[in-house]
Amino acid sequence: MSALGITALIDEPAADIMINRVAKSGTHESQPRWPKRPISVVVAGTGSHVPERILTNADLEKMVDTSDQWITERTGMKERHIAAPGESASDLAVVACEKALAEAKVKPEELDLIIVGTVTGDMTFPSTACVLQQRLAAAHAAAFDVSAGCTGFIYSLSIARQFIASGAYRTALVVGVEVLSKITDWTDRATCVLFGDGAGAAVLKAGTEPDKGILATYLAADGGGGRHLYMPAGGSRLPTSAETVQQRLHTLKMDGNATFKVAVRSMADAVKNLLRQTGLEPEGVKLLIPHQANLRIIDATARLLKFPSERVFVNIARYGNTSSATTIIALDEARKGGLVHSGDVVMLVAFGAGLTWGGVVVRF
Ligand code: ACO
Repeated sequence: MSALGITALIDEPAADIMINRVAKSGTHESQPRWPKRPISVVVAGTGSHVPERILTNADLEKMVDTSDQWITERTGMKERHIAAPGESASDLAVVACEKALAEAKVKPEELDLIIVGTVTGDMTFPSTACVLQQRLAAAHAAAFDVSAGCTGFIYSLSIARQFIASGAYRTALVVGVEVLSKITDWTDRATCVLFGDGAGAAVLKAGTEPDKGILATYLAADGGGGRHLYMPAGGSRLPTSAETVQQRLHTLKMDGNATFKVAVRSMADAVKNLLRQTGLEPEGVKLLIPHQANLRIIDATARLLKFPSERVFVNIARYGNTSSATTIIALDEARKGGLVHSGDVVMLVAFGAGLTWGGVVVRF
């Protein structure tokens, strides 16, 4: 391992990386000292939260020209949770974060870093991570958002891992939260049946056992697919005006067929890369947690990779597609449901707007 720079450090697997101890919990140094001992980056706690209101396929039948049969057969979805008027991303995220912090036995003031993966934050700026930093009273944490569509949680987790593995920080809170209902065109049956709202959070800590924690991460992007899934207005390209509002350009637009095709390919690419990095065979992965966008995409990916369906976690029927929150809500459910035990390897993979895709392998 080279000690010449951070770049060299973060290119190494976490297990090989040495870390300095931060002298006082909750403080961080502007110039990290060179690491002194091997570490891992462990997931110390998870939490999730969804809004109270449930919107069923039967409810949607009354809103647009659709049917329970069409939605179930094409997507696997039965119901989704929808935020109340005025309920924001940070309202959902703060509950998920409190649960994750409680499980990890970490006080907010011990956090060095908060990263939030979202495209539906409370405001365009400041970041929802800063809103959460204030709401949680995490006074010592740096905070920022990551825009990677549905891969937002995976991207955020990978970034946080690098900060801890490099020795810069010891404790991070990583959030995936989305309130897509607020940017959904409720007259467009091709999209409005697909999405739900929700939040999930994970606490990452510097660990001492090299074979535990995050074993590998993989991130990828293809900006050429940017128009498969996007919101046209509200940015600097097409600022908000009476016209953009009237034309519903502040709602999510999606080319479903184009997205479907790249979804299977990109999630399979992520799984193959992670298996290669870790040297694992599919049998060595206790649970594959894919992005919950469509049951047919999940089934096709699992078939392609020869993952037995009983080791593929699916909860899409109850939540729909909560975008950057799907994988962390699913991980939290799987853990709290007793499906993940000490020593088990779990793989999370996702794809989303950007296009982006990627994955993470964790040993608990
Ligand atoms: N109810 C009834 N009929 C519908 C509905 C609906 N809600 N939506 C579309 N249809 C109709 C279409 O109009 C079309 O009718 P036509 O044949 O008369 O023209 C017919 O159903 C078939 O439409 P397709 O779009 O071809 O249906 P498909 O089988 O491809 O399923 C779907 C559509 C579910 C959107 C699928 O393409 C898909 O899941 N794509 C991927 C979407 C995705 O993953 N998005 C998220 C990615 S990233 C992120 O998670 C944010």
